Amino acid sequence: MTQTLSQMAVEVLTTADGRAKTALSHKYAAAWFAARKAGSEIEIGTATPPIMPSRPDKPELLSPRDVPRRRPGSPQGRIALLHAVAHIELNAVDLHWDIIARFADTPMPVGFYDDWVKAADEESKHFNLVCDCLENLDSHYGALPAHAGMWRAAEDTATDFLGRLAVVPMVLEARGLDVTPGMITVFQKAGETETVSALETIYAEEVGHVAYGSKWFNFLCGRHNLDPKDVFHKLVRKYFHSTLKPPFNEEKRAEAGLPPDFYWPLTEQGSVTEP
Ligand SMILES: [Fe+2]
Ligand SMILES: [Fe+2]
Repeated sequence: MTQTLSQMAVEVLTTADGRAKTALSHKYAAAWFAARKAGSEIEIGTATPPIMPSRPDKPELLSPRDVPRRRPGSPQGRIALLHAVAHIELNAVDLHWDIIARFADTPMPVGFYDDWVKAADEESKHFNLVCDCLENLDSHYGALPAHAGMWRAAEDTATDFLGRLAVVPMVLEARGLDVTPGMITVFQKAGETETVSALETIYAEEVGHVAYGSKWFNFLCGRHNLDPKDVFHKLVRKYFHSTLKPPFNEEKRAEAGLPPDFYWPLTEQGSVTEP
């Protein structure tokens, strides 16, 4: 019997090694799009995703306050920064396959699956690009400790589809748009052109991921006749355990369909003026 998309998602989630996980992710994305191009469709099906995805033995996962901070101006600091990005990208691969399997019981247009399969494939590419950069700097993913708790947003929203879309693409991935230009500058100053080009690829493609989030969030709100902005504020306050931190990349957020009145009221400043 041919595999359903949900079964493929669970297989990616339960593969521990980063390079193996991303290779499988790429293989299944290619299968999905080949079927779409041929005018057929892989069935979505249902499958139970694990509570936590499988991960390699290394990196050691530590509480954020125990992860040593290093100055970004030093070569060791740049390796630490890239290592943190690799960890985020691997988590993103799992997040995108998880949303496919986790909410497969909610009927969605096929375009929803096109978007998240494409995003999962891009995250796989991002992880490999960053791993290549780390290896060129004589390091590798797993050489340093990484943040535990990255999967918390997924666990908190495991039964709330709108909550997942609000917190993961529209808060966490949107935050990536705010911080990536500064990171690119750090590597430009160091003359590390390979890393600059990897980060530029990531930056360009992440706009799309935030856009998929706002597109499908708006779609689901419309299906239930809900006001997207109000629902977004309510869900982010419920599931995201902090205020949003400016400065925001307002231009790229706008490009991704995220208007200022979605995120400004969730800052420390904004939450004073709104009940
Ligand atoms: Fe990414
Ligand atoms: Fe992403």
